[in-house]
Amino acid sequence: MVKQFTLLVALILFVVIANAQKYPNMAPRPPMGWNSWNFFDCRVTEANIKRMADAMASNGMKEAGYEYIVIDDCWQKSRDKDGYIVADKVKFPSGIKALADYVHSKGLKFGIYSDAGLQTCQKRPGSAGYEDKDAQRYAEWGVDYLKYDWCNTGGMTAPVQYSKMRDALYRAQRPIVFSICTGGDAQPWLWGDTVGQLWRSTQDIQDRFATGHGVMKIFDEMSRIRIYNKPNAWNDPDMLQAGNIGLNETQSRTHFTLWCMMSAPLMAGNNLLLMEPAILKILTNKKAIAIDQDKLGIPCFLWANANGIEAWLKPLADGGYAVCFLNRSKQHATLHFNWQQQVMDPDYKKTYNIDGGYTVFDIWHNKELGSTKESITSTIKGQDVLFVLLKKQ
Ligand code: GAL
Repeated sequence: MVKQFTLLVALILFVVIANAQKYPNMAPRPPMGWNSWNFFDCRVTEANIKRMADAMASNGMKEAGYEYIVIDDCWQKSRDKDGYIVADKVKFPSGIKALADYVHSKGLKFGIYSDAGLQTCQKRPGSAGYEDKDAQRYAEWGVDYLKYDWCNTGGMTAPVQYSKMRDALYRAQRPIVFSICTGGDAQPWLWGDTVGQLWRSTQDIQDRFATGHGVMKIFDEMSRIRIYNKPNAWNDPDMLQAGNIGLNETQSRTHFTLWCMMSAPLMAGNNLLLMEPAILKILTNKKAIAIDQDKLGIPCFLWANANGIEAWLKPLADGGYAVCFLNRSKQHATLHFNWQQQVMDPDYKKTYNIDGGYTVFDIWHNKELGSTKESITSTIKGQDVLFVLLKKQ
């Protein structure tokens, strides 16, 4: 009898623990893709999602590593009599399954959006109380990525609500990247690691550079939580605004550089069909992307401040470093910098000795700049960066 009871307890524990987990190793590198929100807002439709998938599959982005096409808010309409979610038939006449199949046929992955509360931020049906039904549908449709928002959640507790959906996804038996989106509420960096693969750490990014809640503000907020970033558990500073009208080419390049320096998820948020060639070149720069995707996933830290130019350092898995010299001002500034220094990472408490034994490669100008034996002198335009890769010789 005692033995049977022990077995029963063990079985119950096994079922609970087996359910209470996220899918392992789903995002060893920061996820890359495109999301509809920053450009299309609520005007998202089946036709424009297909066009974005076509563009990503043929313009070099797919080869550069972008893989997810994510529909954000506004695809949902109601629930049917059994409680299953119903897509807006006017915007998505062929249905979500057909759209997922289309995206997959382009060799890409498909993402969708819901909300942990009663309604999404745009007042569509939320998933609270319907976690299993929604997860089941996503699995049937072939969803690969779920962005899960935090609107209309009065009285609810974020780790509890997010864990419910994590468990529902697990029960639905399709590996789906789970993107937590509390906009920084409830400090997801403290609990998100066991629940999802990435978590939005700040309020929404605005289509601005140095004002409001734009690129620079978010970059500064993120540096305070860099220690929580690691493979399969990424701080998410929000989708890219590169290529949208609020940023010029220089600002877009700086924005992209900073996101790569942070090992941030790279979710393009512009219209991929209207993109200038210069923006496409930025988004697909292989060396910049390799820095973002470096397997250590250590975000940059502030190394030095010289003549108004900040030097940010990111250690890389091969023993090299990425360095971003950032000129925040609107005026040109001249950099004189001596490479050979001992550098202490203030959060990880690690010391790096940068000696003369590294080559220096300028990523955006695609040229060698000698080695760390010599000091570097360079003029950096206002709001621009000098983005370099140091490689052990
Ligand atoms: C916000 C979220 C945005 C977008 C929007 C949709 O809460 O942070 O990225 O998803 O909701 O309504």
